[in-house]
Amino acid sequence: MNNEKDPLLLDHEADGIRELDNQLPRWWVWLFNLTIFFAGAYLLYYHVFDRGALMAAEYRQEMEVGEKVKQAALDRFEKEMLTMAPSTDAAVLEEGKQVFTVNCVACHRADAGGLVGPNLTDDYWIHGSEFKDTLQTISNGVPEKGMVTWKGLLKPTQIYAVASYIYTLRGSNPPNPKPPENTAPATPQVNIYE
Ligand code: HEC
Repeated sequence: MNNEKDPLLLDHEADGIRELDNQLPRWWVWLFNLTIFFAGAYLLYYHVFDRGALMAAEYRQEMEVGEKVKQAALDRFEKEMLTMAPSTDAAVLEEGKQVFTVNCVACHRADAGGLVGPNLTDDYWIHGSEFKDTLQTISNGVPEKGMVTWKGLLKPTQIYAVASYIYTLRGSNPPNPKPPENTAPATPQVNIYE
């Protein structure tokens, strides 16, 4: 072998394979030492002295913050609901139609003529005929009667959109509607398209 004289070559050999005792680069050794130091510091900081929040605790904290933001938005919407007017914006109504198709047709029928839930196109309203009543009923639901509480499931903008969409269906007279639940017609409907 011609490498016999190499000072870095170690004595032992296995099946002709020999080992070169090369010095590791300094920067590498320091980096390695740094990782050892980091691991020790991490262990002390997080697990021995409990100074930092671990991943699960951090997750909980962030969820709490998120929950507060969500609650604040819902509270704000709760107040805004009282003075909102139905949207006539085509994009909002289209979004409302989609929300209705996905979430509401199972109980109110695609044309809102009523199935399990009441007809939403007639003059008879169980929970009030004003736009704010519609918003409130959708948001708070009527759990004891099977109407879902949508706040928290739908975003405020989606509730507003679907309520606006329903508003455009008033007076649309779909075939075979569900009979009115309410005995006396409530306040006459106002249809923005009339
Ligand atoms: C699981 C069935 C079900 C689903 C899904 C459902 N509803 Fe209802 N909804 C009802 C029932 C039942 C009532 C009647 C509650 C009562 O008798 O007080 C109702 C009532 C309503 C009312 C009030 C009607 C009135 O006469 O005052 C509105 C508005 C309404 N729903 C909108 C919606 C919208 C919008 C969706 C979809 C986001 C939806 N509902 C999804 C069952 C449902």
